[in-house]
Amino acid sequence: MKITSFSADGFKNLRNVSVEPSDGVNIIHGENAQGKTNFIEAIWILSGARSFRGSKERDMVAFDGDFARLSLTLRDSEREQSIEAVLSKNPRERKITLNGVKQRYLSGLFGVLKCVVFTPEDLELSKGSPDNRRSFADLCISQIKPAYSRTILKYENVLLQRNTLLKNIAAGVSDPDDLDVWDEQMARLGAYISVIKYQYTKKLAVFAGRLYEEISKGRESFGLKYCSTVYSELEGRADWQGELSREYLVVLKRGRAEDIRLGFTAAGVHRDDIAVLINGISAKEFGSQGQNRSAALSMKLAQAYILFEETSEMPIILLDDVLSELDKSRREFIISKLKGMQIFITCCEPAARLRGKRFEMMGGEIINRSKKGVER
Ligand SMILES: Nc1ncnc2c1ncn2[C@@H]1O[C@H](COP(=O)(O)OP(=O)(O)OP(=O)(O)O)[C@@H](O)[C@H]1O
Ligand SMILES: [Mg+2]
Repeated sequence: MKITSFSADGFKNLRNVSVEPSDGVNIIHGENAQGKTNFIEAIWILSGARSFRGSKERDMVAFDGDFARLSLTLRDSEREQSIEAVLSKNPRERKITLNGVKQRYLSGLFGVLKCVVFTPEDLELSKGSPDNRRSFADLCISQIKPAYSRTILKYENVLLQRNTLLKNIAAGVSDPDDLDVWDEQMARLGAYISVIKYQYTKKLAVFAGRLYEEISKGRESFGLKYCSTVYSELEGRADWQGELSREYLVVLKRGRAEDIRLGFTAAGVHRDDIAVLINGISAKEFGSQGQNRSAALSMKLAQAYILFEETSEMPIILLDDVLSELDKSRREFIISKLKGMQIFITCCEPAARLRGKRFEMMGGEIINRSKKGVER
């Protein structure tokens, strides 16, 4: 899949940006605070996923403007597609179309433009908080199975309701029996999510393991362990509608008194983690900085490879400021592993050693005279 044209105007500080990227490497360079990450974020937003910087839709419109206009055309293995979005500080004025068909929300675009974004924070993936690994896995799976993201939203809603009820029970204004209906729903959704995440983790371990082995020149091994707070074993189990749901319910019921005391749900997929193991031991606890970076890179690259394998479309790679964070050998490794994919790279220096089309960003504008950029 390749982006054939992209334009942005009034998205944060971007003004009159209109580019025809190359099918290979595209380099967006410029000084700090000129709009390079905004450029990457604008493309990412059109993939229908939540902002990787946590920006709300209204924050995407320029401070001094009313609308952010984005448009993009892409070519995948089957056809040309076009996406247009006009975002507004007033959500009622939002206009989004996919191939001319109106969409109510940006999430309606999910699954069309397939991107993998790497940011400097991603380099903390194996070392950082479990929350990062949970949302990483959720996003990876949603990109393959868009329906999964709706299950996650449903689960989050049930969790919110259950937690509110737990507090009300502790305050004496609700009855513990009222938990039954939420527990049933949570058990079904949670059992399904556990199975899907466990299976994805296994696949990720295989793909990332191969990459890690290569990066460490065969000297170290990589593994992932899905750490469920509900099940002691998930291997070979898939009956989420039956026994897995029932077991989940038992765990919720058993934890009920404690949950009421705590005011939140202590066990469940929202507390699960994926442990990264290097040579069989926890990378988070014992790994070096370099080992953790290699592990994170391997996992992000594996995300792209699995997405390709599952959807038969090569994803578009967005590298925001990561190359400058890496040493030469990791930089070369990552670029070599992304051959054949369309890549957008942001950096401060013009990255003279990298071949590709260059766009210079200054004050929110691409200042190259030709929107085709400069090939070097
Ligand atoms: N809604 C908005 N309207 C106008 N400008 C905004 C808005 N939101 C953010 N900005 C500005 O956009 C500018 C560019 O941000 P961006 O993160 O893209 O810079 P950058 O080129 O990636 O810089 P760096 O090299 O430091 O990462 C920032 O100075 C920020 O204040
Ligand atoms: Mg930036």
